[in-house]
Amino acid sequence: MAKTKAPAKGKAKKSTAKPAATKIKVADSKITPQAPKAYAAVTVKDPKGQTWDLPVLKGTIGPDVVDVRKLYTEHGLFTYDPGYGSTGSTQSAITYIDGEEGVLMHRGYRIEELAEKSDFMEVCYLLLEGELPNAKQKKQFEKDITYHTMLHEQITRFFSGFRRDAHPMAVMVSVVGALSAFYHDSTDIHDPRQRMIASHRLIAKVPTIAAMAYKYSVGQPFIYPRNHLSYAENFLYMHFAVPAEDYEINPVVAKAMDRIFILHADHEQNASTSTVRIAGSSGANPFACIAAGIACLWGPAHGGANEAVLSMLREIGSKDRIPEFIKRAKSKDDNFRLMGFGHRVYKNYDPRASVMRQSCHEVLDALGKRDEPLLELAMELERIALEDDYFVSHKLFPNVDFYSGIILQAIGFPTSMFTVLFAVARTVGWVAQWKEMIEDPTQRIGRPRQLYTGYGERPYLPIEKRK
Ligand code: CMC
Repeated sequence: MAKTKAPAKGKAKKSTAKPAATKIKVADSKITPQAPKAYAAVTVKDPKGQTWDLPVLKGTIGPDVVDVRKLYTEHGLFTYDPGYGSTGSTQSAITYIDGEEGVLMHRGYRIEELAEKSDFMEVCYLLLEGELPNAKQKKQFEKDITYHTMLHEQITRFFSGFRRDAHPMAVMVSVVGALSAFYHDSTDIHDPRQRMIASHRLIAKVPTIAAMAYKYSVGQPFIYPRNHLSYAENFLYMHFAVPAEDYEINPVVAKAMDRIFILHADHEQNASTSTVRIAGSSGANPFACIAAGIACLWGPAHGGANEAVLSMLREIGSKDRIPEFIKRAKSKDDNFRLMGFGHRVYKNYDPRASVMRQSCHEVLDALGKRDEPLLELAMELERIALEDDYFVSHKLFPNVDFYSGIILQAIGFPTSMFTVLFAVARTVGWVAQWKEMIEDPTQRIGRPRQLYTGYGERPYLPIEKRK
């Protein structure tokens, strides 16, 4: 690319050919969604030495994007961006992140405000429908979700095919994928009503599958959903109730669970969401697309980090061993990383982590576990890391996963269920993004290109002539 300056602090490059874009402050919440507009151009040189102008598109807020859609068909060039650090794969009106400032908003509402004032059902509606529901809409939405919480009884048979020690994420990938074999009346992706029913079914049934995966692993009978409970209450009830006695739901725990769901609900074009979009772009069955997202989420660099944080804290064991692990995290010869630290997008405190940290204190207080040694260890680790030159210069801050595991453990979930809980909460984000993609008239199958570095053409060698 020619005529562009080095980006400041990871911000988008700006063309010098035309007036620079006005930076719109995130706090300016009055800005309404708009279709992207081309306002300028960057100049590229093609292999024949000819120069071309590429349009630069402007969204509502956030960095502008160079529109390279015609780069290959008109100029014979591909872009090269492994890991997609500078690539916008879609336009979207659902979630906005400013990683430099540590801002996350859904449909224009700050995550901190949603976590404090809203509830998960409302956030689900907001993500799916674009607006907060009024009282009537909320009631209807809650009814729609509640109505779909039960599973086809045949699905329960899948569980007995697994070993009792199967990782619950393995069970999730399989059983959520298997929903595609059951709900044929909601798989025509071109029918808006079927899309909506598939969306409701996924949000409603994934918690039931998660709870069954847990119950199966501990050898207890499945607990069926109860429709008078809220989404978070029902989730706790299906996990921790047993047929032999009454189960009392702790309201502080239910509130914390609901907040954890809100904090994980969506995070724009992250790895698992992009996986769902790519899977869905071929027109695949919606249940199978969400199973693909669950598979991607499982990795320790993504949703598997909450489980990895707890394993790491247990391995560190005591405060005096923190410097040893900090040293390992900084070493180029050691592949150990401080789990729950760092983020591709956030170069500031992850706003979800701040809320999670506060929630962690509230839950431990309510459960009388204020002296939880892992919390003390985590806080000390955070303090030391945030004063360390390496973490400061690399802009590595705690992310959402750093404190969530401590809360989940205090509530009673085993470590292996942590990523499952992330998947339950993220299902609405995946579904909303999948729906937005299907409803986008410009949508095409996702198909990246490559920079080929293998052999050129060579003749086939018969086996007797090979070394
Ligand atoms: N500990 C130590 N060093 C780190 C860490 C860490 N947690 N994260 C990044 N770095 C260093 C990395 O070694 C590299 O250093 P250098 O430039 O000197 O070679 C630099 O920071 C940039 O790292 P990167 O791997 O290029 O960054 P990325 O954007 O590709 O990776 C990440 C982002 C989240 C995968 C990474 O920070 C990481 O592995 N963190 C630990 C896992 C974790 O907590 N994941 C949860 C993410 S939040 C939940 C979610 O949305 O899924």
